[in-house]
Amino acid sequence: MTEITVTVNGKTVTRSCEDRTLLVQFLREDLRLTGTHVGCDTSQCGACQVHVNGKAVKACTMFAVEADGAEVATIEGQANPDGSLNTIQQAFQDYHGLQCGFCTPGMVMSAAALLKDNPQPTEAEIRNHLQGNLCRCTGYHNIVRAIMAASGQNTDAIAAE
Ligand code: FES
Ligand code: FES
Repeated sequence: MTEITVTVNGKTVTRSCEDRTLLVQFLREDLRLTGTHVGCDTSQCGACQVHVNGKAVKACTMFAVEADGAEVATIEGQANPDGSLNTIQQAFQDYHGLQCGFCTPGMVMSAAALLKDNPQPTEAEIRNHLQGNLCRCTGYHNIVRAIMAASGQNTDAIAAE
């Protein structure tokens, strides 16, 4: 067992975990932050996406011990301080960017990382960025519209489905 200290959504926690524990297991099972999902065992789906030191990371691809000393952001920390949905979350709701919602935490975290680096991405840039996030329900179209809207851009060029 190794003791690690991680700041998750602004709260610093210290826990002992096995060296083989994945970051996604640590978040879900040790910290009970179950908004970070596990949708595959091949590092393909992106449902587990979080931010580590400001960078988007698939939490199933790193060990918790590698996050020792890091700042981690998960979907649980994305709402506004008053509990209301943040701009990206609200846009997903407004533009029907989700159906079952399983992929949505990863999509929102992925979109947040994109908009941080590229505040007004084109449709092509959004679609390219989302290649690491799989959705089995929506067909992606409304997710792209939601991210366009969240970045303050007109979505008229992307027809509603
Ligand atoms: Fe991490 Fe699918 S659970 S990419
Ligand atoms: Fe169901 Fe994306 S909304 S997997």
